[in-house]
Amino acid sequence: MNASSATKNIETLNVALGERSYDILVGPGLISDAGLHIANVIPQPRVVVVTDENVAPHYLGPIMASLKNANIDATAITLPAGEESKSFAMLEELSESLLELKIERTTTLIALGGGVIGDLVGFAAAVTLRGIPFIQVPTTLLSQVDSSVGGKTGINSRLGKNLVGAFYQPLLVLADIETLDTLPRREVLAGYAEVVKYGLISDAGFFDWLVDNGASLIDGDAGARIHAIITSCKAKAKIVAEDELELGVRALLNLGHTFGHALEAETGYSDKLLHGESVAIGSIMAFDASQRTGLCRVEDFEKVRSHFESIGLPVGLAHIKGSDWTASRLLEHMSRDKKVKDGKITFVLVRAIGDAFVTSDISNDAVAGMLEDYIAN
Ligand code: NAD
Ligand code: GLY
Repeated sequence: MNASSATKNIETLNVALGERSYDILVGPGLISDAGLHIANVIPQPRVVVVTDENVAPHYLGPIMASLKNANIDATAITLPAGEESKSFAMLEELSESLLELKIERTTTLIALGGGVIGDLVGFAAAVTLRGIPFIQVPTTLLSQVDSSVGGKTGINSRLGKNLVGAFYQPLLVLADIETLDTLPRREVLAGYAEVVKYGLISDAGFFDWLVDNGASLIDGDAGARIHAIITSCKAKAKIVAEDELELGVRALLNLGHTFGHALEAETGYSDKLLHGESVAIGSIMAFDASQRTGLCRVEDFEKVRSHFESIGLPVGLAHIKGSDWTASRLLEHMSRDKKVKDGKITFVLVRAIGDAFVTSDISNDAVAGMLEDYIAN
């Protein structure tokens, strides 16, 4: 840790993956000090910073200045914001732009933005020149607690979400919590769904802490934010170190995602339903399916639903604009999920808050029956 970090109270975690291990730094001021941290890990003092048009006005200037102060040659590319950018077309545009800039195999890409930029830029780094280094500088709550850590990169196909991609680890993650101050409240809430996920999967104590502190975290309490981000990143770093390629325990991180991805596909990956919002509804559905099949107590389902409702997260389909839901179409989306095995859809279900498990042992009829209830209400 350098002197500047020490004075700013930066927490450092490590993702232990042998030669591909890397640090996650969490705290304030990391964008203005980015050059110092990045200079320590890049193989060549040349980077390309890729960001989106909402993030650029706030953070592109400061990061470019910091890189310049650290004698790093930096070029910037700004892309359109939004889930639509996780597309083949945008991947092509980005890769061609990088090649036009005559990047070399030791030039580093920096993803400055939320999960969309992180996933797209990470995938461009994985495939351009057959792989160049990249660094994550996540600027949303969701990307700080989840998408920037663990090396899942990719884009959406017209047949489904994240269906094209690669496991490709970054060199470093810089999570500057001050960037959350400019994040719209709806996006903070959406990211909160991924924070709660860690409690729901395996840490009932963290869920209880969130019930007490979630509202102040969302309202901007820096201490609560740091605690939640560090707890989430520690949980994720541990799981990724154990199971980088999702052959086992990592699948638990998909709690709510099988349902959620189907909802996102049906709403066209648009701002009708943000990714984190779909995870919130999907997590409620996972608890509901678990209590309906006698796997978990109804009290646990109700406790989670009541926390989501009180915090302002969606728990059903009623308020999603302009969607003509049918259970069969939702199931059709689920049947294209990456985790389908031998034709059976895989779900993450729960025995209790903090006790999730993976199963294909639930019938499509049971799932369809539950979906019909959500559509009717
Ligand atoms: P996002 O990247 O679209 O960001 C949300 C919105 O906030 C965008 O409009 C963005 O321009 C804006 N924004 C970002 N930072 C800002 C800031 N500091 N101030 C103001 N505006 C800001 O969405 P997201 O929720 O960060 O990420 C969602 C994506 O992450 C989805 O595509 C999802 O599939 C992916 N994801 C990936 C993983 C993984 O492991 N790779 C995990 C979870 C989610
Ligand atoms: N967000 C799920 C994972 O990284 O595995």
